[in-house]
Amino acid sequence: MTLKPLFLAAVAALSCTAAQAQTAPLKVGLMLPATGTFAALGDAIEKGFRLYVQEQGGKLSGREIQYMKVDDESDPSKATDNVNKLIKRDNVDVIVGTVHSGVALAMARAARESNTLLIVPNAGADAITGPQCAPNIFRSSFSNWQPGYAAGVVASGKGYKKAVTITWNYAAGSETVKGFTEGFEKGGGKVAKDLNLPFPNVEFQALLTEIAAQKPDVVFAFFAGGGAVKFVKDYDAAGLKKNIPLVASGFLTDGTLEAQGASAQGILSTLHYADNLDTPRNNAFRKSYALTYKQQPDVYAVQGYDAAQMLGAGLAAVKGDFKQRDALQAAMAKASVDSPRGKFTLSPQRNPVQDIYLREAKGVNNESRGVAVKALADPGRGCKV
Ligand code: BEZ
Repeated sequence: MTLKPLFLAAVAALSCTAAQAQTAPLKVGLMLPATGTFAALGDAIEKGFRLYVQEQGGKLSGREIQYMKVDDESDPSKATDNVNKLIKRDNVDVIVGTVHSGVALAMARAARESNTLLIVPNAGADAITGPQCAPNIFRSSFSNWQPGYAAGVVASGKGYKKAVTITWNYAAGSETVKGFTEGFEKGGGKVAKDLNLPFPNVEFQALLTEIAAQKPDVVFAFFAGGGAVKFVKDYDAAGLKKNIPLVASGFLTDGTLEAQGASAQGILSTLHYADNLDTPRNNAFRKSYALTYKQQPDVYAVQGYDAAQMLGAGLAAVKGDFKQRDALQAAMAKASVDSPRGKFTLSPQRNPVQDIYLREAKGVNNESRGVAVKALADPGRGCKV
């Protein structure tokens, strides 16, 4: 037997496996909170991600998406074990997660060590697109610094001089406050006191008494999910809302307005999304989400939707061939994402460069009151690649 038929058979077998690899389902590991104070946030992210895939006919560049799921419980102590269930046990191609900054930091470490593609659809931990950055780590959301800094710019622009900040004592809280302080003090304000409590505690009473004693011109707050609902109600019930204005990171009132009711009305906040952005893209997204899920989307849904768009852009560039990882990641890095929030690109550290809106809580919507800071890029301090 000559070598030629053997050679041809080998080539045929190889191209067959390559073709199979290009059409086999792509495994997406969703590591999100399904329980605890951030459960609703995880649910909205998953719905947003699935919606974009569904709008593409259930496939991205010919690849069906197979979902594997882990509830991370927003618990950093379980994060490494949880992410390894997806990486080592389920052998996923891509991880999408998560909400909590502390959990996401452990995920980023595992993704970097195993070179698994990671798209962060919420957690703002600055280090993920800072010192812990890597070519396989992307974010579809924000860095903690971004909404905090913009709130500081807004508060100082309103002429407030003395601020008190209040948040949970973990990366998202302290980094958001750091951003606020930078923006506020650059504009001539001074942060008189930083108050905090452990995540996810909601016993705010002693801290609210301290705020009243401090008599600041403005209070800056970062809380989200169930904790944000309780904080806004307690702030109002303590009689503070009518005397000391809140300027918040937008997570305080996003996805929470129905539960916060009258206590939230009029609260100003900064974020990269507002419900009433009257653009064809946002209107179409909101209609599609409402039709599919019989509920209104929020910023978390947008971030999930855009995580899928980013993956879609990478897969389109390699025609669904996930093995071409370098080309896929390069395409993701230079994608212009047509988001409901407005088009955005990624910084060299792979974090969105985006407009941060000033919003006002009105009814069940966070309505835009204009752009607080245009095309804000996280400084990406400490990122080497
Ligand atoms: C965070 O932990 O990074 C986070 C959680 C909820 C909303 C925004 C940020």
